[in-house]
Amino acid sequence: MKYARELSKIIEGGVLGKINQVKAYTEFLADKLESDGEHKIAKRLRTSMSDSLLASGYNLASAQPASQLRAPVDKDSHMALADITYPGSNHSGMAVLDATTKAQVDEFISFVLKAEKLADAGLSSAPSLLLYGPPGCGKTLLAHNVAAQLELPLFTARCDSLVSSLLGSTSKNIRSLFDFASQQPCVLFLDEFDALAKARDDQHELGELKRVVVSLLQNIDALPKDTIIIAATNHEQLLDPAVWRRFELRIKLNAPDSVTREQIYRNELAEFSPSKLQKTVEHSVGLSGAIIAQICVAAKRKAILNDENQTTEQELLYRIAMVRYSNVIESEKEATDKLVELKNLNSELFTVRLLSKIFGMSTGKISNLLNRDENEQ
Ligand SMILES: Nc1ncnc2c1ncn2[C@@H]1O[C@H](COP(=O)(O)OP(=O)(O)O)[C@@H](O)[C@H]1O
Ligand SMILES: [Mg+2]
Repeated sequence: MKYARELSKIIEGGVLGKINQVKAYTEFLADKLESDGEHKIAKRLRTSMSDSLLASGYNLASAQPASQLRAPVDKDSHMALADITYPGSNHSGMAVLDATTKAQVDEFISFVLKAEKLADAGLSSAPSLLLYGPPGCGKTLLAHNVAAQLELPLFTARCDSLVSSLLGSTSKNIRSLFDFASQQPCVLFLDEFDALAKARDDQHELGELKRVVVSLLQNIDALPKDTIIIAATNHEQLLDPAVWRRFELRIKLNAPDSVTREQIYRNELAEFSPSKLQKTVEHSVGLSGAIIAQICVAAKRKAILNDENQTTEQELLYRIAMVRYSNVIESEKEATDKLVELKNLNSELFTVRLLSKIFGMSTGKISNLLNRDENEQ
């Protein structure tokens, strides 16, 4: 049945006396009904909820609308334990993924959307996804995209405030965040997850950390079957193996392959994109999506300031060279030595024209210096 999940959360909330849960899921259900064209029933639900809340003495005026939910706070620092965002409503870009990764992500989304069908077949399980891989390859962005696709708010845990300065409060914080997340429709996102889930046998850590991991495991296990949880880490080797196993689906996000890189360039540059990007894509091998995005922003900014409506492949290659070979370009060696070294490192990328742009010398001078060096050898 289409609304079984919402109904069961409402019933559970009612039986356990969790008014906020009843309220959040009733609003969620009414919104769904509205978008399915069931305006009358939606209205009836809303009226019935506010009538019962009033009758129970619940102060409606002070209640927060769903769009202004407030996350629980750390008792000591008064910092919120999570940031609540609505990824569906802001148009931050889409993570570009290779076909294999995209298929894995789509599978996760269909697990969530078709949870009832799976439950009918006796296959209910908490939808949990672990994203791992090098920094800047789109883990955080992808978590936002998944929440947007599921049309749910994203509760991003703040690991720094979760780890309380008060000894013993960390477990309490984890518990209150997980409780909060299980009482409303949302995606719970544990970003920079290794801060919490470091292996228990880490010799340098104290007993507190071990307790944190145990508490994390207990809280993950105790999550209601329909709470959607995503965790992300750049350091999967640090994760406690028991934590690692708790996640049903684990997806590695690598540095983008050539097809993906081209798509990221085209998306980020949009109308500023030069028609040919082949060399740019080739020479960006190994760069993360985040670095490519930064290169694009810099190139676009320059084009705008120069009143140009397009950037050039030469400009992009220049930016790539500055990122990949900064250790040589910015070193204190003699210019000739740098030219030769760069040419040896990557003779295809470092054309005379590009070297002239990097070092602010004429192409004639660059050729001279390179030739002189060759003659000397
Ligand atoms: N696969 C990708 N597709 C599109 N943009 C990407 C991708 N990977 C990284 N980016 C860009 O880099 C930024 C930072 O990526 P982020 O998601 O924070 O990486 P991570 O969480 O893996 O460190 C994104 O907001 C986006 O602009
Ligand atoms: Mg991140």
